[in-house]
Amino acid sequence: MSNDRNLEVKRDVPGEYGAPILGSVLDRLDRFYGKNFFEKRRDEYGSTVFRVNMPPGPPFFPDSKVIALLDQKSFPVLFDLTKVSKKDVFTGTYVPSTGFTGGYRVLSYLGQEEPKHAQLKSYCMDILSSNHDRWIPELRAAAAAGYAEWDAELNKPKKSGRLLGGLVSGLLPDDPPELNPVLGKIALRFLTKTVLDKDATEGNALTETGIKLWIAPQIAPVLNAGLPAVIQEPLLHTAPIPFIIVAPEYQKIVRFFKANGERAVSLAVPHGIEPDEALHNLVFFICFNTFGGLTILWPALFKNVSDFDEFDLQAELREEVRRAVGRGGVDAAALGAMPLLQSTVYEVLRIEPPVQSQYGKAKVDFVLETHVEAFKIKAGEMLYGYQPLVTRDPVVFEEPEKFKPRRFMGEEGQRLLEHVFWSNGPETGSPSVDNKQCPGKNFVVLVTRILFADFFLHYDSFKLGDAFISGTSSVYPFTELKKRA
Ligand code: HEM
Repeated sequence: MSNDRNLEVKRDVPGEYGAPILGSVLDRLDRFYGKNFFEKRRDEYGSTVFRVNMPPGPPFFPDSKVIALLDQKSFPVLFDLTKVSKKDVFTGTYVPSTGFTGGYRVLSYLGQEEPKHAQLKSYCMDILSSNHDRWIPELRAAAAAGYAEWDAELNKPKKSGRLLGGLVSGLLPDDPPELNPVLGKIALRFLTKTVLDKDATEGNALTETGIKLWIAPQIAPVLNAGLPAVIQEPLLHTAPIPFIIVAPEYQKIVRFFKANGERAVSLAVPHGIEPDEALHNLVFFICFNTFGGLTILWPALFKNVSDFDEFDLQAELREEVRRAVGRGGVDAAALGAMPLLQSTVYEVLRIEPPVQSQYGKAKVDFVLETHVEAFKIKAGEMLYGYQPLVTRDPVVFEEPEKFKPRRFMGEEGQRLLEHVFWSNGPETGSPSVDNKQCPGKNFVVLVTRILFADFFLHYDSFKLGDAFISGTSSVYPFTELKKRA
């Protein structure tokens, strides 16, 4: 892919923004209700970089004009902080009211040039590292409680003949166990037990629904909840949803963190952060960044593995896991002996990056290259990377549309990791106070590997049905879940 020769600028960035407001509304409708929004523009303009409006847009949200980046050569400019600013672009072209975050601009919205960025990022990294010997046992304990819930469902009597009268072992009762609510509880339990020394799922002190009710209005302007346009457009995409509607949910979360977070909040003191600001940032790290991310990533992992049918992936995974663990536990050494599991996790992060959109505003004029041509970008222009197409770039990845669990195995596979961008940086990069790469990068991969390995110590195999909508999230039912023989 590398191209040392500088390409010549031969044309302006293609694409039109259309008439004021109208152009933005038309692009928004096409983005939410049309098909192949990016692909059809890419093909029309013959370019992986083009101008387009991104939701939500005026009149009640700021300017929607962006330059979309869809290939592996142009997208990494979003990591180059000499060329782009990442200030106030976490959710896109708009910024949710700071009411949602206790009146503070929390870390995710800060540009790395703002002095507070380094203070808060070091604090966030301290939260992760100071608990390093507790994450794994707490995650495994939380997972065990989750299995107990699934197993209790499995043990319910099978009443109907729907599933061959239960003749085939591993088939399920009438009310099959569901993947997502239990994964959500596992995440919430191990995160709060570790960071706050208190399990938030106990007595439903906090719930996935409550947390998502607080998150949803913040991302509503760019969210496709699958509702018809006549409902979704006025309700979610036209004007900001006021914080007041979910204030009770947020206050409940903050009260729980305040009551149990003394140890975690005190870690902010050496970084010069006031306790109240630390508290609201902590809530955001744990509930938005981590819980929000894991409850997208984990179901995607299970679903991709469930749907895979080219070889018996689940048999290979469980053999690899059980061989690696032997008589010991799921520790670092055992994880190191699970290359297929590790590659599977990376492949899910490649094919379904949990956060699809990344923004950055050009700070200076510069020339941006795709694989085949170059464009002039002007200071002040908003750049927008749509990651699902970038990590399916055929110039870098063979059969990019295919889920290939072995893709990242071996030396060749390891080399591809620099093209995996889910954490707002290459998978070979390191988050630091000088960049905007996700501080949870290594943590997320680690806990996901541990959870999946642990799952195969308890179960032999599983199969998921089609998702249905329940409350604020979509849910996969198990159509098969076989306990370890
Ligand atoms: C930044 C994804 C877990 C804390 C980001 C960004 C992405 C991301 C895409 C960059 C956003 C942007 O500015 O364009 C994810 C996903 C996660 C996850 C998918 C889980 C599956 C975590 C965890 C933490 C965390 C575990 C920490 C406890 C943050 C913070 C930032 C960030 C604080 C802003 C970084 C900075 O300002 O330098 N994350 N993240 N995230 N993430 Fe994560």
